[in-house]
Amino acid sequence: FLHKLVLGIETSCDDTAAAVVDETGNVWGEAIHSQTEVHLKTGGIIPPVAQQLHRENIQRIVQEALSVSKISPSELSAIATTIKPGLALSLGVGLSFSLQLVDQLKKPFIPIHHMEAHALTIRLTNKVEFPFLVLLISGGHCLLALVRGVSDFLLLGKSLDIAPGDMLDKVARRLSLIKHPECSTMSGGKAIEHLAKQGNKLHFDFKPPMQRAKNCDFSFSGLQHVVDKTITQKEKEEGTFIISKVGQINNPGFCLKMPVCSVGIEKGQLLSSAADIAAAVQHTTACHIAKRTHRAILFCKQRNFLSESNAVLVVSGGVASNLYIRKALEIVTNATQCTLLCPPPRLCTDNGVMIAWNGIERLRAGLGILYDTEGIRYEPK
Ligand code: KG4
Ligand code: ZN
Repeated sequence: FLHKLVLGIETSCDDTAAAVVDETGNVWGEAIHSQTEVHLKTGGIIPPVAQQLHRENIQRIVQEALSVSKISPSELSAIATTIKPGLALSLGVGLSFSLQLVDQLKKPFIPIHHMEAHALTIRLTNKVEFPFLVLLISGGHCLLALVRGVSDFLLLGKSLDIAPGDMLDKVARRLSLIKHPECSTMSGGKAIEHLAKQGNKLHFDFKPPMQRAKNCDFSFSGLQHVVDKTITQKEKEEGTFIISKVGQINNPGFCLKMPVCSVGIEKGQLLSSAADIAAAVQHTTACHIAKRTHRAILFCKQRNFLSESNAVLVVSGGVASNLYIRKALEIVTNATQCTLLCPPPRLCTDNGVMIAWNGIERLRAGLGILYDTEGIRYEPK
């Protein structure tokens, strides 16, 4: 048998994913079940709901990844699974399923750090040597790190509050983009990008956060609140009195049904300034991300952590698929003689391939088999 094969399993958030990848980066089989639709309806992830959906799908997804790859499980070199960070309830499903499989198949277990997996994905698709800089921007992550080796990271900056995707999702929800026919199936961030194309960013002036902070940290909740206030203001200006629902006032002794009036925008209708707001918030987000990244590049070059002439910036995470934000980052990398690399979109978001690949990287580096059936049981912290 030719290559080491690793099965990767990911359940840290709202995707149940599995894949089989070999040493050369070939993907033999993969499968994914996304819970996005369910969570969009509830307006966010409810951890017990996510847990239940992982439970319902994990067996099928792992089975599918294995059967597409046409290998027998006995041919696997190891099983790699995300153990942190993420939603505890979701992580638990993947971990206990994997440990069962490990017992059953008598295979080594490789615990995976979700961020490490995101950061190393680029080495599956491109020939990228250490060290390189990575920017992870998604709904749950926001960090800048220098990747010096498979498990050797220098954290340069992180969000002090929420992640950019989370902020864009909240703004999108506040703008009711989910009810907009063109955007209803898109994630919040994608809906904002779509709508922003029809808007004028100059109509609103949202200031980039942390302009004077001499570090590479991020912040998005201040921006979110400013945008929120602006939307409330615009609703008052543009809205008409509408009867939003029939409210029921239940008091002991009497029951009264009455219409509840409120100022607002009809359901299914967007604020006329929604596109401008989307364009402005996207612009400010792009500026903020680009400026913090610029600082990180300059810092690393000054300290000789990165080469002067051929440094690489890897950008990954769901928000990295935003072309406007990418453009802003391109301006920064062009100005600093860096190469900007992004994994393909399907590998930017959570997936099983990156977990399996991280397993391969760890095997090759002689790292991190913390559990095998003969030896020690791995206890996650
Ligand atoms: O990586 P991902 O699938 O999941 C995690 O959060 O881990 O990223 C999803 C996030 C969501 O917040 C979504 O709104 C955002 O990425 N996103 C985008 C775009 N596509 C997805 N944000 C901005 N522009 C996009 N085109
Ligand atoms: Zn992720």
